[in-house]
Amino acid sequence: MISSAQALILGLILQPILAQNVTDLKDNSANCSCYVVETDNTPSYFQYHRFWDFRNVASAKSQYTVAPPAVNNSQGAGTEMTPDQEFLNSSAWNTDWGIQNWGKPSTSDFPIRMQNSPANVFILQNNSSSYASDYDTYLALRTTRLEDFQSSAEVENEQKNLMHASLRVKARVIGDPGAVAGFFTFYDDNNESDIEILTSDPKDMIRYTNQPSVDKNGNEIPQSSLNGTGLPAWDNWRTHRIDWLAKKSYWYIDGQEVANNTYSVPRKPSGLVINMWSDGGEWSGNMTIGGSAEYHIQWIELAFNTSGPVGGPGGGNRKRDEEEGILEKRKSKGCQVVCRVDGVKDVGFPEVAHVAASLAGMGAVPLVSSWALVVMMGLVSFLMGF
Ligand SMILES: *[C@@H]1O[C@H](CO)[C@@H](O)[C@H](O)[C@H]1NC(C)=O
Ligand SMILES: *[C@@H]1O[C@H](CO)[C@@H](O)[C@H](O)[C@H]1NC(C)=O
Ligand SMILES: *[C@@H]1O[C@H](CO)[C@@H](O)[C@H](O)[C@H]1NC(C)=O
Ligand SMILES: *[C@@H]1O[C@H](CO)[C@@H](O)[C@H](O)[C@H]1NC(C)=O
Ligand SMILES: *[C@@H]1O[C@H](CO)[C@@H](O)[C@H](O)[C@H]1NC(C)=O
Ligand SMILES: *[C@@H]1O[C@H](CO)[C@@H](O)[C@H](O)[C@H]1NC(C)=O
Ligand SMILES: *[C@@H]1O[C@H](CO)[C@@H](O)[C@H](O)[C@H]1NC(C)=O
Ligand SMILES: *[C@@H]1O[C@H](CO)[C@@H](O)[C@H](O)[C@H]1NC(C)=O
Ligand SMILES: *[C@@H]1O[C@H](CO)[C@@H](O)[C@H](O)[C@H]1NC(C)=O
Ligand SMILES: *[C@@H]1O[C@H](CO)[C@@H](O)[C@H](O)[C@H]1NC(C)=O
Ligand SMILES: *[C@@H]1O[C@H](CO)[C@@H](O)[C@H](O)[C@H]1NC(C)=O
Repeated sequence: MISSAQALILGLILQPILAQNVTDLKDNSANCSCYVVETDNTPSYFQYHRFWDFRNVASAKSQYTVAPPAVNNSQGAGTEMTPDQEFLNSSAWNTDWGIQNWGKPSTSDFPIRMQNSPANVFILQNNSSSYASDYDTYLALRTTRLEDFQSSAEVENEQKNLMHASLRVKARVIGDPGAVAGFFTFYDDNNESDIEILTSDPKDMIRYTNQPSVDKNGNEIPQSSLNGTGLPAWDNWRTHRIDWLAKKSYWYIDGQEVANNTYSVPRKPSGLVINMWSDGGEWSGNMTIGGSAEYHIQWIELAFNTSGPVGGPGGGNRKRDEEEGILEKRKSKGCQVVCRVDGVKDVGFPEVAHVAASLAGMGAVPLVSSWALVVMMGLVSFLMGF
């Protein structure tokens, strides 16, 4: 453990070397050069970190207290606009997230036509004037059953080249049976790792799946999907987590490992998708006409590696190229200042766990002469109690 005095001096040393303004990157950790996550008592190191916080995004007291009107039966094309909400029209949202409007027709296996609509993605704000809570707002994804179709919601992260990650969401699911709240990595139907909450399931049950879950003949592949049972109820706020590593997938709820699987661990660079849907099939079940359900999200946190440059071609996020240049430069120095994302004072704000011996590699930093480096190393070693 580092004492606060040591941390302060360490910070003073590292600040001018590593600190950059990364406010717009949703990376609250200018002091960190990599991130450590413990999965089943084994550390994994990731190069990047993001934290999207929807808990206090209102700029006025009653800005988002009324949900935008639900889609009605005459609006079956998914052409509705994103609700006229300041936050969803901001770069803080649009840089990283894409609201989907694709649909799929009714088939014999999935009898209810499904249509994603931007009208089902919005911010909600707490109504109570004096509530003692650490959140005022949250992101909502809504699905509603109309006579002719199921109006659904989906958002995709623009970082489509995740390659191993620890993905977390603080969320709850409320509403009628017959819907699925999904939080998953996606490349294709055979490279996909899911957390799915089925609103028809008991509130202590969650489905943890590596796709494919059905074989070519339409038969279930039993080892693909694990039923988490006896879990803390999903209609209360919970932290759901997937650790996607090279050889195994792990799933957590509120910090407890509840499932793991070596079957079909995704091998392709993937995106993160969040949705709330139904299609009348075996998996989702049918929602009664007039029914609805919502996926509420306070924040999303990722520690991840990428396949290729984080903002470059294949990153799917060119808007960010310039800003990411800052990070690329810092990360290229390696895993020198290791930060942890768990067990921190404020979730989303990684804290320095330790400084690697490879800090000596900082000879690459300009304006630091070699003797200064020796003095610095000595000081760091002393502070760290080496
Ligand atoms: C970096 O470390 C310094 C010194 O501990 C601290 O004051 C500062 O808040 C840290 N910056 C971030 C973004 O964590
Ligand atoms: C960092 O970025 C924020 C938001 O763009 C800006 O308000 C702030 O002035 C910047 N700080 C520095 C030190 O550049
Ligand atoms: C992430 O990338 C770094 C740098 O290449 C590597 O050292 C580390 O092992 C990778 N982490 C995982 C979980 O693959
Ligand atoms: C806030 O109150 C209004 C009026 O009672 C209601 O329509 C709305 O659904 C409430 N919003 C939330 C988020 O509970
Ligand atoms: C459906 O909703 C739209 C937009 O809110 C509204 O203009 C239209 O009148 C509604 N149609 C019906 C049949 O309720
Ligand atoms: C969204 O933002 C753009 C650019 O900032 C602005 O032109 C447009 O009017 C905004 N749209 C809404 C619905 O607020
Ligand atoms: C508003 O805050 C109170 C107190 O934290 C909480 O019990 C309630 O569920 C919140 N309401 C909504 C609609 O989030
Ligand atoms: C999970 O539970 C569902 C519903 O009870 C059941 O149909 C399915 O076979 C179970 N899957 C496994 C792998 O136990
Ligand atoms: C993984 O899951 C199996 C059961 O599927 C369980 O026995 C084991 O304790 C879990 N954890 C690890 C680290 O293997
Ligand atoms: C991932 O995608 C590739 C190419 O489509 C495929 O060969 C592979 O079976 C998929 N699944 C896994 C787990 O690699
Ligand atoms: C859902 O309802 C349709 C009829 O509208 C029916 O064909 C289908 O079998 C039902 N699905 C399930 C899972 O019960």
